[in-house]
Amino acid sequence: MHPMLNIAVRAARAAGKILVKQFDQGQPIDAVSKGPNDWVSEMDKAAEQAIISTIRKSYPDHGIIAEESGQQAGSDNDFQWVIDPLDGTTNYLRGIPHFCISIALLHKGSVQQGVVYDPIREELYTASRGAGAQLNGRRLRISPKVELKDSILATGFPFKAKHKLPEYQQMFNNLFEHCADMRRAGSAALDLAYVAASRHDGFFEMGLKPWDMLAGELLIREAGGIICDFNGGHNYVQTGNVAAGAPKVLKQMLPLMRL
Ligand code: IPD
Ligand code: CA
Ligand code: CA
Ligand code: CA
Repeated sequence: MHPMLNIAVRAARAAGKILVKQFDQGQPIDAVSKGPNDWVSEMDKAAEQAIISTIRKSYPDHGIIAEESGQQAGSDNDFQWVIDPLDGTTNYLRGIPHFCISIALLHKGSVQQGVVYDPIREELYTASRGAGAQLNGRRLRISPKVELKDSILATGFPFKAKHKLPEYQQMFNNLFEHCADMRRAGSAALDLAYVAASRHDGFFEMGLKPWDMLAGELLIREAGGIICDFNGGHNYVQTGNVAAGAPKVLKQMLPLMRL
């Protein structure tokens, strides 16, 4: 395993341990609002601190961008770590055992290492650029599906930005009419990992942040899939509008998403 991936894994496992310990106690956790339907708890912050301190020990000069702490020192470094300490906070706070930790390492803007860790199922998704994607060490390949009508798509609803609902609903209707079924499980990073693992054939969501998608981006590419914006272009990090999937499935999705 690449030494930098190894540190990402160590950091993700440390955060997972903290999250699961509290989760298993089944006690209510206080959360404060960051915006409409947007919550952060002490657990998001504790997980984030564990990740940051693990990375800092090995790479004190690297930049770090984390959901709850923002850009840390080292913003001019070629290496930037992008961290979602708890993806699926709403699930976590409701006792729904579906959430993960997502950590990506960028070098000069391109993702080199990615980890998505589901600490409940102990599923560790890893990818190094050029070296493939793995789930618990087993090589991942994108779904072999070729027809949208046979495909299961994952999505996330625009619950923090309801003004986007008409546009989203139009897209959802178009896609739902032509696919087999849809899932909304509540963690975008796991949705992307599931696409890499061919549990889903495609995925789309509006308004994602870099920490939701960058580790998943590498998992999907290394598994042989495609990730793009709603026009089939490269602006998914800038726009937050992400579509991904098996190449032939995605090709049939995109025309249905142009409104
Ligand atoms: C959220 C989850 C959710 C997605 C949202 C994300 P968070 O991340 O990934 O599935 O629909 O867009 O913001 O806030 O739980 O880290
Ligand atoms: Ca959040
Ligand atoms: Ca997230
Ligand atoms: Ca989060």
